[in-house]
Amino acid sequence: MNETLFAPPAASQTALFSVKRAGVFLGARITGIDLSKPLDTATVDALKLAHAEHGVLVFPDQKISSGDLLRFGRYFGELSVHPFSTNAEDSPELIVYDNKEGNPPAPTDIWHTDETFRACPPMGTALCSKIIPEVGGDTAFASMSAVYEGLSDRMQHFLSGLEAVHDFKPFRGLFPNTREGVERMRRFEDLYPPVTHPVVAAHPVTGRNVLFVNPQFTLYIKGMAEDESRHLLELLYRKTLVHEYQYRHHWEPDMVVFWDNRGVQHSALHDYYPQRRLMERITIAGTAPIPASAPADPASLRRYLMPPVTAFKDSRQQRQHERD
Ligand SMILES: [Fe+2]
Repeated sequence: MNETLFAPPAASQTALFSVKRAGVFLGARITGIDLSKPLDTATVDALKLAHAEHGVLVFPDQKISSGDLLRFGRYFGELSVHPFSTNAEDSPELIVYDNKEGNPPAPTDIWHTDETFRACPPMGTALCSKIIPEVGGDTAFASMSAVYEGLSDRMQHFLSGLEAVHDFKPFRGLFPNTREGVERMRRFEDLYPPVTHPVVAAHPVTGRNVLFVNPQFTLYIKGMAEDESRHLLELLYRKTLVHEYQYRHHWEPDMVVFWDNRGVQHSALHDYYPQRRLMERITIAGTAPIPASAPADPASLRRYLMPPVTAFKDSRQQRQHERD
């Protein structure tokens, strides 16, 4: 794997850290940095670029406090408060997931971009692992620029300019079907009415086109018949399942993972329940997704999938069934 050193100006030695790719299309392991201490501007600037470039930053061996995690998040923007999550009382920007027997995880094992029911979804989310199950509990990530670039040129042109409506639909079940519950849900509907986002967004840092629909929050594509929209969305969701576009993160205790919500989707596996898994989360506010102005220039695309094995012809060993 390539290893890159971000070398800051000589005067700022603390800004040096190491980046080692963890997946083919996304994911990088960051070492040589201590998140229990304040970071200088050069380090933060380099981290912002690495975050956009690699999509998922993994910081191992970070024994940090909740306050350290909150400080880390604030380097990247204002922290946001999740409207449907149980938040820490004295610090509403901090979410503590303490899943164990009797407290199963929320339905986050569906591919999604965080909080796209907002007009301005978060730019990123960071999790810090405190207690990890003996087995299971990985988080899977997918590069949505890789997914987009893997689409045919015809499909990219077809998607260009389309818009989709997003809603907080998975959280509607949190409101009981009582008069009070319905009234509370109506108040949230006023605060978070359905929003429209481009189906293909331009990443604000890298400029790369990303597919920006997800099965957790997207309702439908505007201007299409219901069955057309449903089938097209299902097709696009299936593209996220291609293994080559993914990085599956295996947790160890005291890891911080900070992902770019503008360019990756994720799904948290629930296979560990009822073992205990304790995580802390912070979320950084973002800006409205930018519609991609045009399909990417085909010459600029990296077509990611491996060619079929038969394309290698004579340069590979023959399999048994291919021999006479
Ligand atoms: Fe999530």
